[in-house]
Amino acid sequence: MADSSLRRLAGELKNFLQACDEDEFINTAAAPAQTAAAGVSRTAAPLPPMREDSTLTIDFPRAQEPQPQPTISTEPLPAMMTTTQKQQALAELADTIKHCTRCPLGATRLNAVPGEGNIDAELMFVGEGPGYDEDRQGRPFVGRAGQLLDKMIAAMGLTREQVFIANIAKCHPMTDPQHPDKHGNDRAPNAGEIACCRKYLEQQIAIICPKYIVALGGVSAKALISDAKSLGALRGQFHNLSLDSVKLPRPVKILATFHPAALLRNPNWKKDAWKDLQMVMAEMGLKGPSR
Ligand code: URA
Repeated sequence: MADSSLRRLAGELKNFLQACDEDEFINTAAAPAQTAAAGVSRTAAPLPPMREDSTLTIDFPRAQEPQPQPTISTEPLPAMMTTTQKQQALAELADTIKHCTRCPLGATRLNAVPGEGNIDAELMFVGEGPGYDEDRQGRPFVGRAGQLLDKMIAAMGLTREQVFIANIAKCHPMTDPQHPDKHGNDRAPNAGEIACCRKYLEQQIAIICPKYIVALGGVSAKALISDAKSLGALRGQFHNLSLDSVKLPRPVKILATFHPAALLRNPNWKKDAWKDLQMVMAEMGLKGPSR
C-alpha cells in the first residue's frame, strides 16, 4: 500500500478512537472520507499514554451461579376423604385430644376443646386456645370473644354451622393455674404448648381440608404462617399453608386477622378486620348477608 494511503487510513482510525460520545462517534463514522478529504485535523485532546506496567481489565459478564431449583415433588397428593371418613377420623382425633396429657395443661383443664363445625367446610377459623367459658363447655369460642366471632361470620353471609372453628391449643392456658375458678385468668398458649398441640391441629386441617383458613390473632398467625413476623406484617395477604406433619390433599390459603378478643379491647381495629374478612369473601365469592 502506498505510504500516503496508509497515512490517511491511520488518520481515520485515530479520529474514530478519539470520538468521545456516541453522536460524535456516529458523525465521525459517517464522514471519515470527507474529513480526510478536507484535511480537517481533529483537535480532541490526545489520550494519555498508557503506562508500561498498566494492564487492561475488561469486565466480562459473570457466569450465573447455578441457582438451586425448587424440587417438584412427584409424590401424589393424598386423596380428599369422604364425609364419612372425615367424621370417623375427626371423632378418633377428638377422643385422643380429650385424653391428652402431653403438656401440663392436660392436668388443669376441665374439658379439652378439640373444635367443632362443618367437617366439609371451605372456611376454617383458628383461634389461640380455650378460655374460661370454653374450658367449661368443651366448645370453642362460646364466651364474649365467641359472640363477636359469630357476628364476624354472619357479616360474611355465613353461619357458625357452615364453618369449622378450632384453636391452636386444645386445653385452657391459665396465668394462675392454682385458681382455675378465677375469671380473667386466660393467657395465650406458650411455645411448648403450641408444639405439643401442633400435630392435632395439622391433622384436623388435613382431614377437613378447607380452602381457606382465617388465623385469629398473632399467636395463631405466627404458629401457622411464620414464627418470625408480627401480625401486622402477616395481615393483608393470603399465604400458602404448609404443614410440618401431614400432606394436604389440596392447597389451602391462609389469611391472618385480629383476634375477636383484641377487637373487643380495641374496637377501632374492627374496620381493618372487616377489610381482611372482605378479602376472604371476595376469594370465596361471598356477597355478605342477604337483606
Ligand atoms: N379465644 C380463643 O382463642 N379461642 C377460644 O376458643 C376462645 C377464646
